[in-house]
Amino acid sequence: MKKLFFFLGKGGVGKTTLAGSFAAYLANNSHKVFLASIDPAHNLFDFFGMEPGKKGPVKLSEGLTVEEFDIDSYLKKFLKESSRKMKKTYHYLQMINLENMFDVLKHSPGMEEYAMLAALQELLDAWESGVDYMIIDTPPTGLMLKIFFIPNTTLLWIGKLKELRLKILERRSQIAHIKGKDEFEEGVPLDVSDDVIFKELQAQEELSKKLSKMFADTEICKKVLVLNYDELSIKEGLKIINDLSTINVSVDLAVLNKKGMSDAAANNEKLKGLLKKISGLTRIEIPFYREQVTPRNKMKEIAKMFATELL
Ligand SMILES: Nc1ncnc2c1ncn2[C@@H]1O[C@H](COP(=O)(O)OP(=O)(O)OP(=O)(O)O)[C@@H](O)[C@H]1O
Ligand SMILES: [Mg+2]
Repeated sequence: MKKLFFFLGKGGVGKTTLAGSFAAYLANNSHKVFLASIDPAHNLFDFFGMEPGKKGPVKLSEGLTVEEFDIDSYLKKFLKESSRKMKKTYHYLQMINLENMFDVLKHSPGMEEYAMLAALQELLDAWESGVDYMIIDTPPTGLMLKIFFIPNTTLLWIGKLKELRLKILERRSQIAHIKGKDEFEEGVPLDVSDDVIFKELQAQEELSKKLSKMFADTEICKKVLVLNYDELSIKEGLKIINDLSTINVSVDLAVLNKKGMSDAAANNEKLKGLLKKISGLTRIEIPFYREQVTPRNKMKEIAKMFATELL
């Protein structure tokens, strides 16, 4: 069965190490794997010892393709596409030159998340057309949570916008009926079947429904929470579990990475108490590889420790 995996957790806990190890392991077992980083501060290529900065998908082995998604270029693409659509839709208003506003719009609230969604959409298309396993190395918690939430919040306001749009079209057609169609400039839609805006709202609604359903699907979309033996990473992990549960998204596995890194942590009662709070979740422990410059040469060993839990 095709599957999609997200590795979530606080910065530095080992998300890239585990995602990279798992991807290499699956590819070694004759699967077609796509490993993508959507973290704006990528370190995926570093993990594989590759030169940084390569754009687009890179084929690492027969079964393994990796890509560091350039979110900034998605943002530009997203803005360009929106501007093109607006110009096309509002051509009768001789739309202002939006390109001049790009630099400001780029930094508007929500833009980065939408660019991430556009990137996710493209990843899903790749996944649906021929990839067995898609593995996603994620950005820091705050941004990642927003991405999981966007489809749901979008669905809420799109419902309202559709209602509003229908009202506008209804008023227009009433006016046209009473005063005649000449009351409106050519190209102004009067009916829902000619309205590009309504169609665009519907398309966004479809995409959001698809993503929201997929994020909540426990069979095909697996969420792995990576933790370390430290208070902050466990507290952040608990917040992730809690926040995701409000949109019916559950975490499937907790991986406690770098066990043994600190002797003090092993006997810390506070940590034990915090860990009890995730006792309902299957937990796998991965040792801290002290002597390793990079755990890359331990990839197979690392992946084997949790792979069966996810497949
Ligand atoms: N089990 C391990 N034993 C030893 N070192 C480890 C282990 N797991 C990860 N590391 C090291 O910890 C550091 C952080 O790991 P990694 O880059 O995978 O974390 P990350 O969660 O992806 O970080 P970021 O949030 O910055 O992207 C790296 O130097 C990595 O080599
Ligand atoms: Mg990382």
